[in-house]
Amino acid sequence: MSQRRLFVTTALPYANGHFHIGHIMEYIQADIWVRFQRMQGNQVHFVCADDAHGAPIMIAADKAGKTPQQFVADIAAGRKPYLDGFHIAFDNWHSTDAPENHELAQQIYRDLKANDLIETRTIEQFFDPEKNMFLPDRFIKGECPNCHARDQYGDNCEVCGKVYSPTELISPYSALSGAQPVLKQSEHFFFKLSDPRCLAFLDQWTQSGAVQPEVLNKISEWIEPGADGKPKMGDWDISRDAPYFGIEIPDAPGKYFYVWLDAPVGYLASLKNWFDKGGPRALGEPRSFDAFMADPATEQFHFIGKDIITFHTLFWPAMLHFSGRKTPNAVFVHGFLTINNGEKMSKSRGTGLDPLKYLSLGMNPEWLRYYLAAKLGSRNEDVDFNADDFMARVNSDLIGKYINIASRAAGFIAKRFDGQLGEVSADGDNLIDHLQTAAPTITALYAEREYGKALREVMLLADRVNAYVDQNKPWELAKKEGMDARLHDVCTACIESFRLLTLYLKPVLPALAASVEAFLQVQPLQFSDASNLLGAGHRINAYQHLMQRVDVKQLDALFEPPPAAAAELTVPGGEPIADTITIDDFSKIDLRIAQIVNCEAVEGSTKLLRLTLDVGEGRMRNVFSGIASAYAPEDLVGKLTVMVANLAPRKMKFGVSEGMVLAASHADETAEPGIHILNPWPGAKPGMRVR
Ligand code: MSP
Ligand code: ZN
Repeated sequence: MSQRRLFVTTALPYANGHFHIGHIMEYIQADIWVRFQRMQGNQVHFVCADDAHGAPIMIAADKAGKTPQQFVADIAAGRKPYLDGFHIAFDNWHSTDAPENHELAQQIYRDLKANDLIETRTIEQFFDPEKNMFLPDRFIKGECPNCHARDQYGDNCEVCGKVYSPTELISPYSALSGAQPVLKQSEHFFFKLSDPRCLAFLDQWTQSGAVQPEVLNKISEWIEPGADGKPKMGDWDISRDAPYFGIEIPDAPGKYFYVWLDAPVGYLASLKNWFDKGGPRALGEPRSFDAFMADPATEQFHFIGKDIITFHTLFWPAMLHFSGRKTPNAVFVHGFLTINNGEKMSKSRGTGLDPLKYLSLGMNPEWLRYYLAAKLGSRNEDVDFNADDFMARVNSDLIGKYINIASRAAGFIAKRFDGQLGEVSADGDNLIDHLQTAAPTITALYAEREYGKALREVMLLADRVNAYVDQNKPWELAKKEGMDARLHDVCTACIESFRLLTLYLKPVLPALAASVEAFLQVQPLQFSDASNLLGAGHRINAYQHLMQRVDVKQLDALFEPPPAAAAELTVPGGEPIADTITIDDFSKIDLRIAQIVNCEAVEGSTKLLRLTLDVGEGRMRNVFSGIASAYAPEDLVGKLTVMVANLAPRKMKFGVSEGMVLAASHADETAEPGIHILNPWPGAKPGMRVR
């Protein structure tokens, strides 16, 4: 088989935070595939980069008091321990803010323009008059036009789920400054994806086998005519106005590429950087980046999560094709990782699985690789990390079925046979034959990313080996007179089998495989080695313990929420002090002493209490407050507190709330649980203003 040349990437993580375990899962999935391809003798260039640009990163940097460049560099500086820690072996890690990406993105844009696929249009957009910038949808908030919930984002309502445009919000305000945004016109650049050429190309590309069937189902509505006779695909707005952290659009002062235009170009930029550094040459790829990418035989693959399908299976292939470049051979979409029965991961609530904490507890990274691989298939289904399941699979399969084979046989080879393997007789040969015959099935499963199925095959083989061990009981043979030859035979069959199992597991367990290679005194195992054997006379090293079992205490520690003291040391109460306001801003809020005249539980809600408040107006106010976890209704009746008296009434599921009582809490309730409502000093009377 001739050597394939593959260019493989994972999605470029946003450079506004450290990796979470979902990122690590994606990298492990891709890393296994890359290692597998290399073990098949194929050449692979495996690259990634930080996704540096965009408004959220610019704003986060501003809040942190850093330039975006510095902000991104600080995040990038923390990447290595995660990657090394989980044996994720990217060849190169770059940044979308690097010069290669500026050049490539601008060139691709020029090529699209030359192809008559770029158009400008004037659009109206919300503008923050205080911050002097156009506001991305996520930074506009207001009242939902549908259910009237307040403080909803500009693109959809989290209370009723309605999707709308920011201009439909009632009393919109800028989440950056609080100012009322104004509509302002701006010229934007569009990639004409609705052009018939694009639709025709995408129709063909998406059906060429480049995407999984379930992905094709999802995206076909963008390309195929719907009920109204039109596909969903519209032209794509690829520009943003200054100030923006991004790449300037050529010949358009003050205009930048929208981050999703330059982000996937970062795949090429990282690869180019890797070529220019000479990495591929050292691996026997003498050509330049341009020559490599121009070769029709070069194959390109992207691993991504299911939330970014449209960018990768529609916009990106079209960008590449219509700028005269190679299109991806396939985009491999995985599902999301959830923790302990589908809980959404949340760092602040401590339900996540912190990758660095995992490592710092001395947990073996290959346990996680094995466990995730055992749950991963070729479809984009979600994967749940379950602590009990994790322990069972690692301890009973990986250790119990596989590692134990070596520990049961190797001692005898060392002690009784001077470390040398012997002859294997017919029953052992049969076993080894059976293991060798599985190679094509296992390689096919790895190639299709059916890791769970591949590992199941390997564990079935391990079962066969264990059955052979149990039939022959080397520990009994060792005690019997005249059974030396049989003992040697059986232990040799075990070691030969162990080598084959190790080879099959190597894409998943690279560090363990390296220890086994040293122990067996063999060259790095390749899939072609499945047809060889060590053979009689081969000498192996003394067995050293290869892998520990998972201890339940480690898992307990892993999911224990961080102690309050460790939570963000420099941040009072778990969150930074908000932006400065003027006294006029403050005086807009009318705070009054209120007497809690009545208080009762709300049927159908575990969070809310219904308060009847007197603020001296000669009428009572009805207020719902999310304090049921902290107070019994009867404890509050008769007490004084402080309320916001001029908050617009809000319609809730249980009735209208006419204000808000003030309460203190830590931003992270797992770090510091509790809600504490305010209570004035003696002497305050209902209706008094708080200023
Ligand atoms: N920056 C974009 C990608 C640009 S690619 C040109 C982005 N970044 S991300 O940091 O939000 O996500 C990076 C990858 O992690 C994506 O493939 C995403 O699907 C994946 N995951 C994010 N959360 C995940 C899980 N909980 N589980 C598995 N993968 C998840 O999107
Ligand atoms: Zn709503």
